[in-house]
Amino acid sequence: MAIVFRQETFRDDFTYRNSPENIRRFPFPFPDDNYMYSVNMEPHVKGAKGTVFENLIDVDEHYVSEMADRALVLKQDPLRCQALPHMMQAQWDTLELIMEQKAEGYPEHFTLTKDGNRWRWINRPLGIDDTFTFGDATTLPMEPLEYIGRQTQGDLAIVDQRENNLWMDAGIVTTQADWSLDFDVGMNFMEWHGPVPLAHQQGVFERALKFLLNLPLGKPTRRFNWTMTINPRLDTSPENFPKWGTDRTTVTPENVGEKVHLRVELQTLWRLPRSNAMLFVIRCYLMNMNELVTVPKWGRRFHRVLGSLPPELIDYKGITRYRDDTVAWLSKYDDGAPTSAGT
Ligand code: HEM
Repeated sequence: MAIVFRQETFRDDFTYRNSPENIRRFPFPFPDDNYMYSVNMEPHVKGAKGTVFENLIDVDEHYVSEMADRALVLKQDPLRCQALPHMMQAQWDTLELIMEQKAEGYPEHFTLTKDGNRWRWINRPLGIDDTFTFGDATTLPMEPLEYIGRQTQGDLAIVDQRENNLWMDAGIVTTQADWSLDFDVGMNFMEWHGPVPLAHQQGVFERALKFLLNLPLGKPTRRFNWTMTINPRLDTSPENFPKWGTDRTTVTPENVGEKVHLRVELQTLWRLPRSNAMLFVIRCYLMNMNELVTVPKWGRRFHRVLGSLPPELIDYKGITRYRDDTVAWLSKYDDGAPTSAGT
């Protein structure tokens, strides 16, 4: 069925909202009443209709507006999209993967036609109809990663694999939870994860890296990450911290429901066929507390997760200032009933 795309903003007047149908498909990420980092990876396979796993690259009602927001960020700061010269083949791998997944998953919105290396790509929601030669960047209006990144919800990082490590050598990153591509580009797996507390000591990154280095072609994997954001702002980058950092001081017991958002990242990892690089898709979903508590078991569980979060994670996720108000607000939705395992 064709998706009805919303017209909305992720800045200034913040008109972003989820429709009731979109709330029902929100990827609530907590299988338990408390949360700690772990190597929470599982095969990225298709799931039930009406969930974010219906297709392997998810497109939802926010697509068109998210792409408009990305265009604004790139206009202000072109360094949000970077690729080192040796990543050109991986850029093409990425373009192919995303076009194929979208055309297969949403034929009413996207069509890919191949005649040898001559490809035609139609993206109806964004009004794009381009013919180009696969592998020849001069036949596209911009490099392949930027071209497809401007048409894909979520940030894309492409990591090169060499010396038994992964290197962040390309990306298009405009919807990130306070990290910078421009700062991280060229770093390896342990280096860019340097600021994360507790997980290094617990061997989480060592195990995750070992697993990823052996990721086979055609068997993508996924995990969830989460944090919180004040106002439905996609671009919470260090570059723009002066614009959003102070939002954290605006939360009051009265406006928690509207202002405080759960920010869930569905992260998928794909081996790329020609380059042997890996595509890391970080897809961000936002939902405010009013929306979250419309599902009673989510309200109950999030109250418990937030209330029992280790201090190191509270600090790292930047939620210190408004956590207590949010926990107090959510307590109205927690009747103390036992919750079952799973979301
Ligand atoms: C955080 C990138 C895979 C676990 C981060 C950050 C980046 C990042 C840039 C932010 C670090 C900062 O504060 O500056 C990536 C990339 C990956 C990848 C490009 C794939 C190639 C993984 C995997 C795990 C993982 C497989 C599994 C354990 C984490 C955790 C955090 C994190 C726990 C902290 C998140 C939070 O509390 O908000 N990652 N990551 N990452 N990453 Fe990864």
